[in-house]
Amino acid sequence: MSEIGILVLHGPNLNLLGMREPGIYGSTTLAKINDSLKLNAEKLQVSVDCRQSNHEGVLVDAIHSARGLHSGILINAGAYTHTSLAIRDALTGVRIPTVEVHLSNIYTREEFRHHSYIAPVAIGQISGFGADSYYLGLQALVNYLKAKN
Ligand code: DQA
Repeated sequence: MSEIGILVLHGPNLNLLGMREPGIYGSTTLAKINDSLKLNAEKLQVSVDCRQSNHEGVLVDAIHSARGLHSGILINAGAYTHTSLAIRDALTGVRIPTVEVHLSNIYTREEFRHHSYIAPVAIGQISGFGADSYYLGLQALVNYLKAKN
């Protein structure tokens, strides 16, 4: 069986996790989330490639570069969730199964966070479980890919 590789993409300001609005986003740093994702991935017998960028075009390029390399994408696009047609178009362009995650529950927050450009092109969305949203999202994505193979 060929190994399932997941591209994990973190969008803008997520490099500040740990110190950024901890009441909303928790105190876990991005490095710790990535380490835990790697441990979870080992248990699931898949690999993860974790990247973060504050730049929309870099995230678009990363999605393009997943073609032929990764079988799934786990994405927290941060504020670009609510604004970026370019990220949505990149995801539909590469047609790689994607799960969207958010640390906070975007539906209990300001109205401008209630709309996601990514949700309609994702398999599903997990929002509101802090760092666990990433681990739950990884599990759901891997289950989906294993069922599909
Ligand atoms: C976020 C929610 C977004 O609305 C916000 O802009 C973020 C983080 C989350 O993980 O809860 O940067 O994606």
